[in-house]
Amino acid sequence: MKKILVTGGAGYIGSHTVVELAQAGYEPIIIDNFSNSEESALGGIQAILGREVPCHRIDCGDAEALRQVFKTEGDIAGVIHFAAFKAVGESVQKPLAYFHNNVGSLITLLQVMKEEGVENLVFSSSCTVYGVPDHLPVTEATPTKPANSPYGRTKQMCEDIVHDAAGAPDNKVHTILLRYFNPIGAHESAKIGELPLGVPNNLVPFITQTAAGLREKLTIFGNDYDTPDGTNVRDYIHVVDLAKAHIVAVQRLLDRKASEAVETFNVGTGHGNSVLEVVATFEEASGQKLNYVIGPRRPGDVPAIYADATKSAEVLGFKTTTSLRDSLASAWKWQQTLSK
Ligand code: UD1
Repeated sequence: MKKILVTGGAGYIGSHTVVELAQAGYEPIIIDNFSNSEESALGGIQAILGREVPCHRIDCGDAEALRQVFKTEGDIAGVIHFAAFKAVGESVQKPLAYFHNNVGSLITLLQVMKEEGVENLVFSSSCTVYGVPDHLPVTEATPTKPANSPYGRTKQMCEDIVHDAAGAPDNKVHTILLRYFNPIGAHESAKIGELPLGVPNNLVPFITQTAAGLREKLTIFGNDYDTPDGTNVRDYIHVVDLAKAHIVAVQRLLDRKASEAVETFNVGTGHGNSVLEVVATFEEASGQKLNYVIGPRRPGDVPAIYADATKSAEVLGFKTTTSLRDSLASAWKWQQTLSK
């Protein structure tokens, strides 16, 4: 079994990917500092897999600790680097913390991978690198635009760092950059899912907490955008579909099938849905009436973005299979489990 190190493996996307890796015959090893994740995620992973997954409680920016993990584990075939801060609004309040954590940990990881001779990396990028795109859907060739937040800038800088590192004459690392669209939902077992700390920033956990009575109402951030119903359009991808994209990416790297030292793929469904469509679909899937109001626009929101998923389908052979309705149903099931 090939060992795959998963930084941020106790987090939302990380935990689902750990499960998919194990089920695909890999041996995942988690690194997490639990700054934005909970120990309970490890219990959920164990409950699904019927066995414990090793976890090192270290910070990815700690080079010495990282080195020790590579040495004690030995034979690490590749790394999936999820560990990062991800709240757009918070990044405006604490820009230096975002640059230090997101950019710093990638640099440290790349240095240690080089020292230890580990040559395969999958990096969590984001559709945020496209900024406000001129044309929809966005392909991987769509030019990136100035990011709307320090968070977005960290993702752009990390992509640049990966490209520059790959251009060095002694580089041996092959990287796949996965640009995620909006991950939602939870594992069908409802043993792992999103665990937002405090008031959720993201739409779907806010919806499910409102339906569960934990929040009074959802505020929809603006209905005067130049979109079909005036609300923002996003590409919502089920988190297990997203997790599976990492398995094909890892396999491609291990099989040495990558055509370049750095390859980039959009990971989305290829469909855009408005906030009002998400609300209506949630109501239908859950049987709950959602209390919502229209509020002002949220600064930094992009009016509309969704993926052109052609390249990931043709090159990676990756296709999403979960509908918006099923994704929202899984988010609701997870919320009900949490509420218990
Ligand atoms: C953004 C980033 C994404 C990042 C994510 C992390 C872009 C295009 N995307 O996603 O890269 O990984 O943040 O958090 O920059 N909404 C409401 N009311 C709410 C919450 C959200 O109306 O209470 C709306 C938003 O205005 C938006 C949509 O729901 O139109 C989705 O919002 P959210 O879940 O926060 O994700 P993004 O902002 O799209």
